[in-house]
Amino acid sequence: MIRVLACIGLLAVLAVIAAAVFFFGGFYSVAGTAGDPAVVSWALGHIRAASIARHASDSPTVSLEDPSIVQAGARAYATRGCANCHGGPGVDWARFAEGLRPEPPDLKELAADRTPQQLFWVVKNGINMTGMPSFGAIDVPDQELWSIVAFVKKLPTVSDDDFKTWTGK
Ligand code: HEC
Repeated sequence: MIRVLACIGLLAVLAVIAAAVFFFGGFYSVAGTAGDPAVVSWALGHIRAASIARHASDSPTVSLEDPSIVQAGARAYATRGCANCHGGPGVDWARFAEGLRPEPPDLKELAADRTPQQLFWVVKNGINMTGMPSFGAIDVPDQELWSIVAFVKKLPTVSDDDFKTWTGK
């Protein structure tokens, strides 16, 4: 029994040394193109969803149905640079967004799957180790963040022309 335990202990120590050499010896690639193995992507997706669901608790401070809030959200979405990574109605994402791993999702497809609280939390806090920035970290007021949420929730029904008119672009 003691021998078996000693063997397990030795294997654990060897595994730690091997991992240290792999990571600190520079063998692990931090290239943005390296991509994660399928099981890692699967785990990260679930960890992200669980983390957002647990943390997102703030309630809207504005009416998300008010057209003037939705339109203010469209302008904030355009000026804060969201469209560079996520695109928008009639607006292509910037070319560099195609080099991001994980890729920025198409928000019009994702909007219905997320609660306003979850969208607010993500935009305010960002997502660690991805290209998704925290807009709370640059002091964007909560009211503006909620207007962006109102706009994102409406994205599936916003036409290219609406977006053009609302943003004046
Ligand atoms: C520099 C690029 C970049 C900018 C600018 C950016 N995002 Fe993102 N965003 C990302 C990436 C990359 C992801 C995917 C992260 C992941 O898969 O974990 C993401 C994810 C998201 C998600 C999905 C989170 C989820 O629940 O899965 C939302 C919502 C979002 N962004 C909204 C916004 C809004 C609104 C703005 C502007 C205020 C914005 N993003 C600006 C890159 C960006």
